[in-house]
Amino acid sequence: QRHLISAADLTRDDAVLILDTAEEMSRVADRPIKKLPTLRGRTIVNLFFEDSTRTRISFEAAEKRLSADVINFSAKGSSVSKGESLKDTAQTLEAMGVDAVVIRHGASGAPYRLANSGWIDAAVINAGDGTHQHPTQALLDAFTMRRRLIGRDTGLGQDLSGKRITLVGDVLHSRVARSNVDLLHTLGAEVTLVAPPTLVPVGVGTWPCEVSYDLDAVLPKSDAVMMLRVQRERMNAAFFPTEREYSRRYGLDGDRMAKMPEHAIVMHPGPMVRGMEITAEVADSDRCTVVEQVANGVSIRMAVLYLLLGGNEPAVTHSRTEEK
Ligand code: CP
Repeated sequence: QRHLISAADLTRDDAVLILDTAEEMSRVADRPIKKLPTLRGRTIVNLFFEDSTRTRISFEAAEKRLSADVINFSAKGSSVSKGESLKDTAQTLEAMGVDAVVIRHGASGAPYRLANSGWIDAAVINAGDGTHQHPTQALLDAFTMRRRLIGRDTGLGQDLSGKRITLVGDVLHSRVARSNVDLLHTLGAEVTLVAPPTLVPVGVGTWPCEVSYDLDAVLPKSDAVMMLRVQRERMNAAFFPTEREYSRRYGLDGDRMAKMPEHAIVMHPGPMVRGMEITAEVADSDRCTVVEQVANGVSIRMAVLYLLLGGNEPAVTHSRTEEK
């Protein structure tokens, strides 16, 4: 059984195949009928133990565009609130005969446990676990960078060799940062983390990236700048500078954005905290790809589901009527 648990498990060729397949999948949005029959008869459960807007909705959209049967499970309102364990929840799903489980969980390692416990026979896709990993987010971010920095057609088959990517903010609590560092390194990019000293993880020295505390010095050398959400819900107040101090040193406003090269883009995985890590002027500017990232997330998740479950059928077939 194949799973997607961590961006670190992907080779360069795996990642490029997913990005190229996502380019094919993105064409489905342009079809009169935005659906492929690829996963007809397959059942996918979206198992969300933590809140989500973008990931949950885009997995559901991707599954429906591939014609899968979709079951949405949210821990709120389920028997988890009565104390049911992950094992019993998993075995309940197994009894219903699911083919894949997309799981978001507050505990780092929960998707790995589900995939390797023997409780369930389905493919497991990690939709974000604790502070550990969010591999489809890293893939959609890489897809967005490749399209914007190399080109939609010229990027096919290519990685991100030589691109300079800066991740800014709450690295300590960010599964997005961990996944991006792993995947961007695999794809040949040079990654720099910029964060307050209290929000840099212990052990970052072993990560394949540079660390800086000076955002203004790094901006002119960046092809993409990804702002990270400050995850107040995961932190002790002692870790955090005041909001004003954080914005002054690590926030992205119009003046700072002007220091970036003209071609460089601003990214954010969402949800954004406008005013603190990013001003409205930057978030709403043409250089900010946040909405594009969400749209690309559907194509990436279609590609991942297709490659894990779709068998040998061609990803996208074109009928004669559509080609007219
Ligand atoms: N980027 C992301 O994971 O957003 P959600 O928490 O809304 O899914």
